[in-house]
Amino acid sequence: MSTEQASPDWEKVRAQFPVLQREIDGQPLVYLDSGNTSQKPYAVIEAMDDFLRSGYAPINRSAYRLAAEATDRYEGARASVARLVNAPRADEVVFTKNATESLNLVAQAWGAKHLRAGDVVVLTHLEHHANIVPWQILQERNGIELRWVPLTADGQLDLTDLDTLLDGAKVFAFSAMSNVLGTITPVAELCAAAHRHGALAVVDACQFVPHNPTDVQAWGADFVAFSSHKMCGPSGIGALWGRAELLDATPPFLGGGNMIAVVRLDGFTTAPVPAKFEAGTPPIVEAVGFGAAAEYLMDLGMVAVRRHEMDLTRYALDALHERYGERITIHGPDNIEVRGGVLSFEFGGIHPHDISQVLDQRNVCVRAGHHCAKPLMRLLGVNATARASLYLYNDRTDVDALVDALDGATDIFGF
Ligand SMILES: Cc1ncc(COP(=O)(O)O)c(C=O)c1O
Repeated sequence: MSTEQASPDWEKVRAQFPVLQREIDGQPLVYLDSGNTSQKPYAVIEAMDDFLRSGYAPINRSAYRLAAEATDRYEGARASVARLVNAPRADEVVFTKNATESLNLVAQAWGAKHLRAGDVVVLTHLEHHANIVPWQILQERNGIELRWVPLTADGQLDLTDLDTLLDGAKVFAFSAMSNVLGTITPVAELCAAAHRHGALAVVDACQFVPHNPTDVQAWGADFVAFSSHKMCGPSGIGALWGRAELLDATPPFLGGGNMIAVVRLDGFTTAPVPAKFEAGTPPIVEAVGFGAAAEYLMDLGMVAVRRHEMDLTRYALDALHERYGERITIHGPDNIEVRGGVLSFEFGGIHPHDISQVLDQRNVCVRAGHHCAKPLMRLLGVNATARASLYLYNDRTDVDALVDALDGATDIFGF
């Protein structure tokens, strides 16, 4: 990884997140659930607040200055998001509700038009439901065939039979980073493999974009989905980046205002991309926040963010293993070069929900559950795990708090 980017002062970065200054019962808040959703810095809160106070207006519909300014803010946000992922053109970025909607757009708009019974879509055992169910819906409707890339013992993609799986495939849709195991997949290699077989490469980058430098062009991807709320922005908005010719060849997903050029009683023509996919009044304030989040991350530098999280992930893996040895099982690769800061674990046979509750008594927020990845849970042989997930505002004191708080679970439940 390049070392060119200067590292920010992470203590100062943490201070930019007001909720992290909060104490409950006199104890600090330890937020370790950013894989679920991230906290928001002043830069995002203030951008949205400022827009609401002094700039809010409809976009694209009105000729007055306030509306023109609001439209500029909305399109400016699109340009910021495009720069964050190095999209060649801002108008290749479609604003959606979230990554889930982005992936549904690909499966159910592009897929419904271009895939027929028997066409093959290849997925992996790492996938979140958001990159499984839309394809299963298409399977029910169009009769497509789904194939699955298996995993190695340490939770990486087992690519041994990839060429066989991709043989005759039309789509390869896969996560860039797993929300359960933290596994970072070799995205460029997978895109190249998809293309060798004439398949499109669809990347679920929902966990990847918030934590890593992202370059959709260097990946050679065709569609890339991600959400604002996991990358310091507000909920209610996400993005789908797609190559212009593919977006042009995709029919609209939802119909209504904003997505049309002409409507007559006997039919309609669509607006150009991206408006074609942004039917109705969009989340305007949220777009401003999404753009501010993209700028915020670019100012910090994604190389520095990734490096910070690698340090912290290594520290967390070592600290948990040192303290609890065989009593803890942390799923996923141990090599932090191919792992993000997501730590799904089983601990002393204690139910993950109990762990989460005990940790909550010490203000340590972790998620317990199936993480919207039930096929992967089945593969791991569990119904649920506890999951601590790290972000740029976390530091070693958070990890120490997690490690110490787990003692509370052993006190209550024993081993
Ligand atoms: C890997 C992955 N893909 C997709 C999603 C869906 O994201 P959203 O709920 O923002 O649509 C998530 C959310 O947890 C995720 O972790």
